[in-house]
Amino acid sequence: MRSCLGAALVTAAVAAAWVAVLPPPTARQPIAFPHAKHQTVGCAVCHSGAATAARAGIPDVATCAKCHATPPAGTNGAWDAAVSRKTIGWVQLTHVPDHVLFSHRRHVTIARLDCVSCHGEMRERLTPPPSAQVRHTMATCVSCHQHEGAAEDCLACHR
Ligand code: HEC
Ligand code: HEC
Ligand code: HEC
Ligand code: HEC
Ligand code: HEC
Repeated sequence: MRSCLGAALVTAAVAAAWVAVLPPPTARQPIAFPHAKHQTVGCAVCHSGAATAARAGIPDVATCAKCHATPPAGTNGAWDAAVSRKTIGWVQLTHVPDHVLFSHRRHVTIARLDCVSCHGEMRERLTPPPSAQVRHTMATCVSCHQHEGAAEDCLACHR
């Protein structure tokens, strides 16, 4: 079990060494979604797993349509295309690799951390960021864990 994990971590280290030389991935989202125009809507209305599950989730067209019976201004053909495909196709920007355990519930509900502490300010954005506003690495995770007295052992974060 341990030697198995060791091999997986070495493989991941080699992969990460290659990834580290590449620029951060950038994305053009299918719709220019404005967080700033949704400030009266709670984050969890759209990111429904943020307080209760591992993944926060990104809302799809069925959620949007609960409030937008007609295409919101500025979405042009992208809205109609998403409705006919039944999905918008958002690109998730913040990721941890598969060998890392991460749970929103643990951080948001148990540790009572604000979204801003890990994602920067999304509330004010008029357009989607082209890359994650905060890039998480092992160092950023461990540094907060040290500060907060949370787990630092390898097997707490790695499967
Ligand atoms: C009306 C729905 C809606 C609300 C309310 C909303 N969001 Fe979002 N959020 C989205 C959509 C759609 C995206 C994907 C497009 C984008 O990045 O703007 C997104 C993306 C994000 C991302 C980027 C995830 C990644 O892949 O890195 C974060 C972080 C985020 N939202 C945080 C928040 C926070 C914090 C709040 C509350 C202050 C909030 N959102 C409120 C719909 C919403
Ligand atoms: C809980 C209700 C709610 C949900 C869910 C919601 N919106 Fe909105 N949306 C609003 C409100 C309210 C406005 C502000 C309208 C205004 O300013 O006139 C708005 C404005 C917008 C605008 C700007 C349009 C303009 O007139 O400037 C866009 C684009 C938009 N929403 C897209 C989306 C998308 C895409 C989703 C799904 C990911 C979504 N909305 C989900 C309530 C919602
Ligand atoms: C302790 C740091 C931390 C906090 C606090 C946090 N997030 Fe995240 N968030 C992350 C990490 C790390 C990922 C990537 C997770 C993955 O790859 O599974 C992520 C991913 C996301 C995503 C991408 C989609 C998904 O399903 O995970 C959204 C949206 C998001 N977070 C929204 C939020 C919102 C809203 C809040 C506040 C209610 C919040 N986050 C609080 C660290 C955090
Ligand atoms: C802003 C501070 C902060 C950041 C950043 C952060 N964490 Fe945490 N994390 C905490 C706190 C506080 C706890 C303890 C919560 C509790 O009481 O269970 C925790 C708990 C955990 C646990 C549960 C540990 C156990 O005892 O079993 C895991 C796993 C975890 N975090 C993974 C991560 C990963 C992976 C990242 C980076 C992607 C990360 N965390 C980033 C503050 C943070
Ligand atoms: C608080 C959570 C956390 C703890 C504790 C932790 N790691 Fe990590 N580790 C991560 C995250 C997140 C990544 C992915 C980083 C990235 O994608 O840039 C990672 C990546 C790695 C990698 C891949 C190479 C790299 O540097 O990105 C190796 C190897 C690794 N960790 C080994 C360890 C060992 C050995 C320990 C114990 C001494 C440990 N980790 C403890 C969160 C953690």
